[in-house]
Amino acid sequence: MPINNRIAHFHDEMTAWRRDLHENPELGFEEQRTSDIVAAKLEEWGIEVHRGLAGTGVVGSLKLGTSNRAIGIRADMDALPMSEANGFEHRSKIDGKMHACGHDGHTTMLLGAAKYLSETRNFDGTVHFIFQPAEEGGGGGRVMVEQGLFDKFPVDAVYGLHNDTTLPVGEISVVSGPVQAASDVFRIHITGKGGHAAKPHFCIDPVVIGSHIVVAMQSIAARRVNPLDSAVISITQFHAGTASNIIPHSGWLDGTVRTLLPEVRDDVQRLLTQIAETTAAAFDAEARVEYHRNYPVTANHAAETERAAIAAAKVLGADKVIRERVPSMGGEDFAFMLEARPGCYVKLGQAGADKGKTPVHHPNYDFNDDILPLGASLWATLVEQELPRG
Ligand code: NI
Repeated sequence: MPINNRIAHFHDEMTAWRRDLHENPELGFEEQRTSDIVAAKLEEWGIEVHRGLAGTGVVGSLKLGTSNRAIGIRADMDALPMSEANGFEHRSKIDGKMHACGHDGHTTMLLGAAKYLSETRNFDGTVHFIFQPAEEGGGGGRVMVEQGLFDKFPVDAVYGLHNDTTLPVGEISVVSGPVQAASDVFRIHITGKGGHAAKPHFCIDPVVIGSHIVVAMQSIAARRVNPLDSAVISITQFHAGTASNIIPHSGWLDGTVRTLLPEVRDDVQRLLTQIAETTAAAFDAEARVEYHRNYPVTANHAAETERAAIAAAKVLGADKVIRERVPSMGGEDFAFMLEARPGCYVKLGQAGADKGKTPVHHPNYDFNDDILPLGASLWATLVEQELPRG
């Protein structure tokens, strides 16, 4: 059984849903239209709908039979604050907003599974279809968990999926352990002493001090972290000054830290703070570090990973299921759901011969509609497998 036949039958319908979402992107926590559409479809199919978790979050619950078993499947709904460069008909209608990560496709695949399962009703137990806001940095998944997602909708396991532009259509990675990095952000405020650019000896130049800090940071990953562990420290903004003849009084840097192990995360935070503060102090300036732990490591649980792999093999064939792969240093807020409940986050290939290869977050990215029935079939198969009848 490769793709579920009934699901393949409404492939065109799913493509239309996906393209409508693509044309009308909404940023994190603002997914009003998107969540209205999701809720309306679920209700149309007789699925009980709960709204309001994390603002625009939607949970559809479908309970059949007598079993107490329950699973959750999660999709993300938000777009990115960037302009689309594609010229096709379903490109974003909103300047500065774009579905450049394929969350339009993730939402559509979960809707496809919900439609199929509500029609066929071939399982015993409860499925919670979880549509979360604000995956792209806003932590909508964290907010849903904090607001009682799994108290209101108890599950034995929770599953999530992301499209993958580096894997061919028809392949999937289902890997136990860490699959996405912890993702933190920081800002370093440097206070020096402003003055005339021709008289630097009367000033304390935050640009020079900031530059020393940027260079010194590079040695954290290169010299302080075990080479067999992983750390990324990227400084992505450096702001100071207003004119060519003024040494600014202050400036700030910010950036991101990605790690895969809790102890490395602790070390990098400590070293980054120490280097910023002591480098500034060496030049009679002051540095203040704001460090925010954003997303934890996304770590798949062994037993649920096995179950997801079995379902994936039924849909795609065992030889198409990748069971070992190095983690991505990207962050993912499904991590909060996996901290709360056992589960697995899989990556579904979308690279075709002539489409689907442009990386996510690129202005020419587009979700490959060819994989809509694959993702929907995966979820439907997993539900029927995990909540078997009789
Ligand atoms: Ni994404």
